[in-house]
Amino acid sequence: MIIQTKSDIAPSEITPKEVFENRREFIQKAGFGLLATAISLPLHAATLRSGAENSDKSLGIANTKSAATSSAFNLHQKISGYSKTTYGTGEKLTPYDDVTTYNNYYEFGTSKSEPAINAKLFKPHPWTISIEGEVKKNKTISIEDIYKLAPLEERIYRMRCVEGWSMVIPWVGLPLAQLIKWAEPNANAKYIEFISMADSQQMTGVNLPVLDWPYVEGLRMDEAMNPLTILAVGLYGEQLPNQNGAPIRLVVPWKYGFKGAKAIVKIRFTEKMPLTTWMKAGPNEYGFYANVNPQVDHPRWTQSSEKRIGAGLFAGRIKTQMFNGYAEQVGQMYAGLDLRKNF
Ligand code: MTE
Repeated sequence: MIIQTKSDIAPSEITPKEVFENRREFIQKAGFGLLATAISLPLHAATLRSGAENSDKSLGIANTKSAATSSAFNLHQKISGYSKTTYGTGEKLTPYDDVTTYNNYYEFGTSKSEPAINAKLFKPHPWTISIEGEVKKNKTISIEDIYKLAPLEERIYRMRCVEGWSMVIPWVGLPLAQLIKWAEPNANAKYIEFISMADSQQMTGVNLPVLDWPYVEGLRMDEAMNPLTILAVGLYGEQLPNQNGAPIRLVVPWKYGFKGAKAIVKIRFTEKMPLTTWMKAGPNEYGFYANVNPQVDHPRWTQSSEKRIGAGLFAGRIKTQMFNGYAEQVGQMYAGLDLRKNF
């Protein structure tokens, strides 16, 4: 059992606590969790380098805090030159503190509060993504060049976790379609696979068999090309905090949050449907599609309603919308598909 001190617990954690404990139980039952308790130990921060050198001007990032006083590599670095867009929900944004302290990032621990602590000294620069599989030729792209692929935009999206909670987050990023265009997939490319970093030196969770590392996610090509799908490099106008997936992660707002692979180091175009991390961990519980669907419950969590994180202790649950409220933009991609079977 994970033991948290009072100060570790964000107000928003109170209601869903049993929810993640259930997921933990599931992992243990699935056989990945032998050492799961130990994952709550803090990262041996002293063995990592201190984070003084990360003012990366080439990314258009201005460090708003003295690097010497910042304990994290990329804390509070503003992204300049992104544009506001009409993508918004009209809903209240989830407070920054909740977005950045209530996380799922098993490479840094299985509780919600651990990633913000254990990922502090993770080093998201320099960074490259390698592109492979069904492409004209394998290549790599640096994070600096990804920033140049398209103008960065703010996208305010709902994020709905399969565990029954949700947030509204102002991401900064670029359409994944722009990277795909640059990657030049060939005609065999039907799917796209996202592979996260799994560095046991920096990510203590990777030393434990809680999941089959590295974290892998995937999309069908039409889903990947949908204008709603972005690669996020920031939130709240700042470079992504480490715990949210710095320096680059996937955001697919009509799918459950686990589709949004963090700290992506490899993108592979494939002919066959990728076998994702959660499909491997629990094939009866996690499907490839993972579209938000209030009519199809997860075996342990109702999907008909959700708890909005940061809404206050007394806020009730809200109704979950089909495709997380993005049906108009994405529903046609699933015409004729049985969404109960293809969950
Ligand atoms: N990506 C990696 N590499 N490792 C993870 O454990 N967790 C997923 C997803 N991406 C995860 C990941 C899950 S379960 C969710 S709900 C979202 O990240 C949470 O994103 P957030 O912490 O920014 O809210």
